[in-house]
Amino acid sequence: EHHGLQCGFCTPGMIMSAVDMINRHGAGNLDEATIRDELEGNICRCTGYHNIVKAIKAASDQMAGMSQAAE
Ligand code: FES
Repeated sequence: EHHGLQCGFCTPGMIMSAVDMINRHGAGNLDEATIRDELEGNICRCTGYHNIVKAIKAASDQMAGMSQAAE
């Protein structure tokens, strides 16, 4: 939905990092600065990170909505 990848080489690491940061910070509690800081060390040579950050923020917010709906 947010075009968070191009070649896909970095995608597995980005997904693992995203899941970890959402678990540690809590779904819905991530802002752009935190996501960018957390991705330090994950190298993407294609995207410029902007859409990856948007995708992680959207996933975090959607997961927060899912957990609220389940309560
Ligand atoms: S999408 Fe190609 S390295 Fe990230």
